Amino acid sequence: MLIVKDLNTYYGAIHALKGVNLSINEGEIVSLIGSNGAGKSTLVNTIGGLLKPRSGSIEFEGKDITKVEAYNLLKEGISLSPEGREVFDSLTVEENLKLGSYTLKDANKINELFNYVYQLFPKLKERKNQYAGTLSGGEQQMLAIGRSLMSNPKLLLLDEPSLGLAPNIVAQIFELIKEISKNGITILLIEQNAFMALKTSDRAYVLENGKVSLEGPSEEIIENDRVREIYLGI
Ligand SMILES: Nc1ncnc2c1ncn2[C@@H]1O[C@H](COP(=O)(O)OP(=O)(O)OP(=O)(O)O)[C@@H](O)[C@H]1O
Ligand SMILES: [Mg+2]
Repeated sequence: MLIVKDLNTYYGAIHALKGVNLSINEGEIVSLIGSNGAGKSTLVNTIGGLLKPRSGSIEFEGKDITKVEAYNLLKEGISLSPEGREVFDSLTVEENLKLGSYTLKDANKINELFNYVYQLFPKLKERKNQYAGTLSGGEQQMLAIGRSLMSNPKLLLLDEPSLGLAPNIVAQIFELIKEISKNGITILLIEQNAFMALKTSDRAYVLENGKVSLEGPSEEIIENDRVREIYLGI
């Protein structure tokens, strides 16, 4: 579904992605783990059209999307839930969700998506008229994921959905990720919480210093000595 080839992304003189190769098959949950500054957000932001790579290519469903802007990628079916939630504080829950569907025109489809998101996150339905800025951290994260789902994506890019959340909420978020996957949405999951990410995903990539250092089925990665030592602390 997605094929990333030899991707190089820079911030000025900083070479943040150094020849990254990665692929995602339809229906998979693929996790991307790595230390702070490894280049995880740079990679998803490049895939999601927010950053332009200097070289390399990104193909989605057989189409070269390397130079496609974020807005048009949303229309193609790629939706990014960025690190740090970034919900609009002074808009209500419902208004935030509505914004997620701005590339869609069909009112029936938008209604269907609202129903889907509210069924997935009943808390958001209860609080639909509440300002997003007054939601708890976990609720804001649910809103950010919900908003990404409102564009009816085929591929969902989740950048650190569990960051800063209490353990019981983290568990809930990972359960929801599995449910979203069962509903037919392919997922690229970026996580600091390597253990939960590996337990939730089919395959995984480890990113170190802008390069993929390890890849494979998550059940194998979780047994890797180096991964256990560095990322799992066991
Ligand atoms: N806007 C920017 N300008 C300059 N350098 C940047 C910028 N954003 C990120 N970088 C650098 O690029 C590298 C990769 O950063 P990135 O945010 O992709 O890491 P990450 O793996 O997502 O880390 P974290 O786990 O902390 O979110 C880091 O060295 C970082 O300092
Ligand atoms: Mg990051």
